[in-house]
Amino acid sequence: MDNAPGMTTKNSDNTPSPEQQLRDGMAQRLIELGAARSARVVAAFRSVPRHLATPDVDMAKCYEAEFAAVTKTDSTGVDISSVSAPRVQAMQIEQADIQPGMNVLEMGSGGVNAAYLAEVVGEQGHVVTVDIDRDVARRAEDFLKATGYRNVTVITADGEHGVPDRAPYDRIVVTVQAADIPPAWVHQLKEGGRLVVPLRMRGMTRTVAFVRDGERLVSDGFELCGFVPMQGAGENRMRMVSLHEVEGEEIALRLDGHPEPDAEALRAALGMPRVEAWSGVTVAGDESTEHLDLWLATALDNLPLMAAKIAARKRGLVASVSPIGVPTLVDGDSFAYRTARPTDDPERFELGAIGHGPQGNKVADRLMGEIQVWHGDHRKHRAHIEIHPAGTPDEQLPAGRLIDRPHTRVTITWP
Ligand SMILES: C[S@@+](CC[C@H](N)C(=O)[O-])C[C@H]1O[C@@H](n2cnc3c(N)ncnc32)[C@H](O)[C@@H]1O
Repeated sequence: MDNAPGMTTKNSDNTPSPEQQLRDGMAQRLIELGAARSARVVAAFRSVPRHLATPDVDMAKCYEAEFAAVTKTDSTGVDISSVSAPRVQAMQIEQADIQPGMNVLEMGSGGVNAAYLAEVVGEQGHVVTVDIDRDVARRAEDFLKATGYRNVTVITADGEHGVPDRAPYDRIVVTVQAADIPPAWVHQLKEGGRLVVPLRMRGMTRTVAFVRDGERLVSDGFELCGFVPMQGAGENRMRMVSLHEVEGEEIALRLDGHPEPDAEALRAALGMPRVEAWSGVTVAGDESTEHLDLWLATALDNLPLMAAKIAARKRGLVASVSPIGVPTLVDGDSFAYRTARPTDDPERFELGAIGHGPQGNKVADRLMGEIQVWHGDHRKHRAHIEIHPAGTPDEQLPAGRLIDRPHTRVTITWP
């Protein structure tokens, strides 16, 4: 069997090898999911022997479109390094619109994604991949050596400062969750170049494709995603405030710059009977609420996410759970979270809000009202996101939700 970069592997009788069949199957699935769209990206996913990066993982598993192989977890149990799922890698590479011959910087290494980038830029292009973790960088280097990708440079450093030696870049692809955009990323990107970054905005992470326009970055589409949190100078994790602590049934609010809640009052509220407010707005069972949730985060000031264990729902403590959290409007001693219920049409669900606490009714009505506003005014549209340097005066910013971070002012605007 031949294993040179850029080549598919075959048995001696010229039929595809078993691992090639796995790769072809994965590439087909990525096309079906809409994650891989261009011929060069599909070819890259048919070529790279990604299973060699995670030898402890079953080979077939490595080629599942949604499987991310966690390679490191910190002392608190938070995953801090992984080889991202093929679907997410393909989605980001498509977002970046990478062309042959380009100079690309990847933040966060694993080896596999750098190999895909190397395939797409081709021999005339170059990829730099940087990881803050020496072990990760070393593993990435070994993988790239073993698989023969020579147009990739692996660097161990904090990506906060970019990699100035190889700048400017046509594209920067960030594969770790960022709460802010350091100036180095903007300045090391060519004018008109694309920066793809999993940006956390008021708790909600979307991998956003930005285009550089001078000192400003302007969004050109975004996708729902989950990534491990940034380490180093840009570390900025969400804060958890517990509402229910019984082991296995934990419920907590995840704060991202939201006001400090009155945890004691909210714990008491959770124990009070729930009230419901239904919007009449329906969604299909397989329809994502990602745009609705971003609208709610734009429209409402105090909307952290409520994360709960499935056992908490089974016990009837909450009606909705999600590993990333459910948007939850907090107002003093009361709160309300987004939920959905079945309708007569088995394919559709009605959106609504469940409130708790002395003002549960009022808070649930407000959340439900914003679901109706989204449906009436914004459902057909997508949010527009811009990044401006910190210190930009308000009057020079687009109207809309403003998120201030140490380096930047992020704006979310709806048409
Ligand atoms: C999801 S993994 C990267 C996956 C990889 N791109 C792949 O091939 O699929 C995220 C990586 O970002 C790294 N990371 C976290 N903070 C960083 C920082 N400030 N600078 C550079 N790398 C960082 C972590 O060590 C981790 O290995």
